[in-house]
Amino acid sequence: MAARTLRIGLIPGDGIGREVIPAGRRVLESLPSSLGLNFSFVDLDAGYEHFKASGTALPDKTVETLKKECDGALFGAVSSPSTKVAGYTSPIVALRKKLGLFANVRPCKTTASPAFKSPTPHPIDLVIVRENTEDLYVKEEKTYPDPSGEGQIAEAIKRISSKASWRIANIAGEIAARRQQMRVGSPVPDAHAKEAMVTITHKSNVLSQTDGLFRSTAREALAQPQFNGMKIEEQIVDSMVYKLFLQPQYYDVIVAPNLYGDLLSDGAAALVGSLGLVPSANVGEGIVIGEPCHGSAPDIEGKGIANPIATIRSVGVMLEFLNLPEAANIIYKAVDENLGEGRFVSPDLGGKASTEEVLQDVIKRM
Ligand code: NAI
Ligand code: MG
Repeated sequence: MAARTLRIGLIPGDGIGREVIPAGRRVLESLPSSLGLNFSFVDLDAGYEHFKASGTALPDKTVETLKKECDGALFGAVSSPSTKVAGYTSPIVALRKKLGLFANVRPCKTTASPAFKSPTPHPIDLVIVRENTEDLYVKEEKTYPDPSGEGQIAEAIKRISSKASWRIANIAGEIAARRQQMRVGSPVPDAHAKEAMVTITHKSNVLSQTDGLFRSTAREALAQPQFNGMKIEEQIVDSMVYKLFLQPQYYDVIVAPNLYGDLLSDGAAALVGSLGLVPSANVGEGIVIGEPCHGSAPDIEGKGIANPIATIRSVGVMLEFLNLPEAANIIYKAVDENLGEGRFVSPDLGGKASTEEVLQDVIKRM
């Protein structure tokens, strides 16, 4: 196999981002050489600390380097001040826009572990694919006096395009197909393996134009021949929440417009235990950015006890989207074994292990 070299941007950001991103780098460096993969790394600035030091939260150099040099990147977390600070906006939101990262992909998976009790008895293994660029988050709001003379009225635009709906549904279909392939290819057959399925989430019974367009476009995208044989279904978002909490084991890939995807993914993360376990990837046409779902966790910063697993799994998700499912599987399996044994788990899961000890145990299993 010809060796492939991938350039990876490292953006630790603030707080525990600086403790978990180096762990992500070491996991990449520890992949077996038989895979024929080499990695080169470039350290990049972003975040609130950088803003305080330099006046900018997201330097142009970071954006340009990611655009021009990098295949993938790992983003830690950034702190946001609780009151508005002039000139500061979240660099990850800006990065998603500048790099055309239109999909936020959040896999949620439970692992049986003696170390902690899952909030639900059901084995969860699903992915939420959230549209990242439009819907109510276009932030076009206005407030004006109520013509009745009493108080004010506030309005927000909910914008849905067929272009964005098509590409998000298309990528959801691709993810379902790849998951199916990875399940079949896994050396350890999954006892709970299910057929590839995409659930389209919307509220078109009320919002017949906006969510109606999302629904019908997603249906069209998922009717393409490459998705033949895949189960495609739809679910109105409120009953989706109900079913997700009642029978999360049923779902495979859930595709949703921005707002519903945001809400559903935080709910799903709660079902699998700790924020320290849940990964994500920001995906578009070019670069892939892996990102743990948690924030900068100032309460545990500098103590060396941050759980690195959300980041380690984000490395896996990044590799999946760089079309390296074999490498991703090695990482997922090592993490599952680490949690399954439950000997080296961090305090957020009731264990005593440090970031370094969890990392070393995962690397040993790779
Ligand atoms: P958080 O995710 O940073 O922390 C919530 C709780 O979970 C804390 O008790 C923390 O110790 C724990 N926790 C989080 N990740 C952990 C890990 N890997 N291992 C062990 N425990 C972990 O959320 P919080 O406290 O609401 O926000 C803190 C800061 O992070 C704020 O400035 C916020 O704006 C920022 N934030 C940034 C995000 C991002 O960069 N994507 C996302 C969420 C919050
Ligand atoms: Mg959210």
